Amino acid sequence: MPAHLIDGNLLSKQLRANVATRAAALTALGKRPGLAVILVGDSSASQVYVRNKVKACEDNGLHSVLEKYDANLTEVALLARIDALNQDPHIHGILVQLPLPAHINAHKVIEAIAAAKDVDGFHVSNAGLLMTGNPLFRPCTPYGVMKMLESIDYPVRGAHAVIVGASNIVGKPQSMLLLQAGATVTICNSKTRDLGHHTRHADILVVATGKRNIVTADMVKPGAVVIDVGMNRDDSGKLCGDVDFANVKEVAGYITPVPGGVGPMTITMLLVNTIEAAERN
Ligand code: GUN
Repeated sequence: MPAHLIDGNLLSKQLRANVATRAAALTALGKRPGLAVILVGDSSASQVYVRNKVKACEDNGLHSVLEKYDANLTEVALLARIDALNQDPHIHGILVQLPLPAHINAHKVIEAIAAAKDVDGFHVSNAGLLMTGNPLFRPCTPYGVMKMLESIDYPVRGAHAVIVGASNIVGKPQSMLLLQAGATVTICNSKTRDLGHHTRHADILVVATGKRNIVTADMVKPGAVVIDVGMNRDDSGKLCGDVDFANVKEVAGYITPVPGGVGPMTITMLLVNTIEAAERN
């Protein structure tokens, strides 16, 4: 039997309705939640991502500002903008879209964002809080994945979760959230030998590599939950994930599509984090 789809658009719609209610309540108190999104350079993928983030704010009653800068913006100028946004009482969340141009030190930029406005959850202070089990902001994509597992009532406790990809944005924080929820976690990376040996043991398989078809049907345990974080283009230019969806869906118990899976959930959890920042304020 083919896998059940976990529909990120549908789940997002439900969660965004709650966001809109909370945004309206804050706005009524004169504290409209505000998100600043900074994009440096003209990467077409990043432009689409930030446009979608800002539009989601507008659609759900949050205030948003999109600041776009040339690729040759200096690091000093970017740090000065972040400093101003840190002081701005109308801004509760600050997001600098990654990747940044090579001449800008991304680590330095992330550390310049006030931890209380770091709605990406990338600041070392927030990474440390997550690692020690007291998260302030959970990074949006892994947080969205946890909500997807929750939506199917998946018993994460005691399950074996295998994460393919060890980035600071997805793989590492995902491992912490799953560990905290009681899973046994394996993190694979680009040097992992015999990837299929690991993935075949997964009850929950999260794939975040940026490599199309890195997970094929023979690498999936029958009945597993397969979460595809990838966002790639196939040979005909169509959006696709990291998982060979057509064949894996015949083996998995649950699977997320691309598009319409994790992508909208990332944006939804950004809204949730911004609301939480404004509520705490
Ligand atoms: N680039 C890819 N994913 C993300 C994300 O979640 N946040 C930011 N700031 N940049 C990204």
